[in-house]
Amino acid sequence: MGSDWKRKGFNIAQMRQLAERTLPKPVFDFADGGAEDERTLRRNEDAFADYQFRPQPLRGAEHIDLSIELFGTHLSLPVIIGPTGLAGLFWPDGERATARAAKHAGTIYCLSHGSVCRLEDLNSPEIGPRWMQVFIYKDRSFTIELTERAQAAGYHALILTVDNQYLGRRERDLVNGFSIPPRFGIKDVIAMAGKSAWLRRMIPELPRITFGNYIREGQASDIKALAGRMQSLLDPAMNWNDVDMLRKTWRGPLIIKGLLHPDDAREAIKRGVDGIIVSNHGGRQLDGAIAAIDALPAMIDATDQKIPVMVDGGFRRGSDMIKALALGARACLIGRPHLWGVSTAGEEGVRHVLDLYRQEITRTMGLLGVTRIADLSPHVLVPRKAI
Ligand SMILES: Cc1cc2nc3c(=O)[nH]c(=O)nc-3n(C[C@H](O)[C@H](O)[C@H](O)COP(=O)(O)O)c2cc1C
Repeated sequence: MGSDWKRKGFNIAQMRQLAERTLPKPVFDFADGGAEDERTLRRNEDAFADYQFRPQPLRGAEHIDLSIELFGTHLSLPVIIGPTGLAGLFWPDGERATARAAKHAGTIYCLSHGSVCRLEDLNSPEIGPRWMQVFIYKDRSFTIELTERAQAAGYHALILTVDNQYLGRRERDLVNGFSIPPRFGIKDVIAMAGKSAWLRRMIPELPRITFGNYIREGQASDIKALAGRMQSLLDPAMNWNDVDMLRKTWRGPLIIKGLLHPDDAREAIKRGVDGIIVSNHGGRQLDGAIAAIDALPAMIDATDQKIPVMVDGGFRRGSDMIKALALGARACLIGRPHLWGVSTAGEEGVRHVLDLYRQEITRTMGLLGVTRIADLSPHVLVPRKAI
């Protein structure tokens, strides 16, 4: 990658292309792909086109303020780095590089259960507010253990992801023979002409790539053993009692990620949950699930402003985010876009991605004639056609 990547990466779609050029195909597709026919993956992005803006440019929009408050934390922009497993596969120490970029931009970093680093490793002064993401395991004591470790390590909020108890079938990974840890056959090596920068950076790292949070004393710590353990640990019998269990254990904001049904939003409030993330896991789990932005209005109605509603899936423009915020979301999370940033240029790449969103959100608000995030409302949107 030459030094002119910033010029070439002038929007998020271009950052995706730069990542595609940098990464071996199986690694790029691991992040880029979705489940089965990738219908939900595509609809997540396409659905934004169903909303149009109705600007009011004569309201004076000289000073635009993107800041928001979330669970007592001040964010400089309404964009959060969502949890993604194995970020350290895209750049050496990718999770810490991304977390530093989040702090630089004035926002929150969510660490995945499946990070390469251990959750305790995100503890330097260059790292700001962090949220920890967990699953429900057959052995509940392991969920509790992760939760207690996160509490001790000073994480501000806990995210329970609920849409991953069965693993979605990501068919690109099957076609590519993507495995954990990545193994490259002759065909892959031939296809890797032009990927030398990633190879140089990552080949020395590959033996260290593992699921850091799953390492236990006296047990095998190589990634293959841990990946097998992790899948067999997830409990498909998970239910609302598990939310109650976490509510009792976790002292701080508890967030459920992966809700799409308004009844579940109402139930979450009854169970004492502090926030929800409307999400279909970026189209990586249930193919055919409703697009995040399509699901959002009913979720906003169901929560009736009692708890903050966040959303992720398909945000590739600041203007996409304005649509979600105008519908009532408090903040938007990004998954793949920060991975494209870190793959391209490490911490600098993620800073650049966050900066692109910042610029686009600011410009969109200016053109709409709105100066504060709190002033965004459905009035700036033209009522959409029924799906
Ligand atoms: C490579 C990759 C790994 C992910 N790992 C996790 C994870 O460990 N936990 C989780 O809750 N979500 C995970 N997600 C889902 C993201 O948090 C997020 O819901 C999704 O990527 C949002 O869609 P977007 O990629 O279109 O922004 C992952 C997504 C990707 C692309």
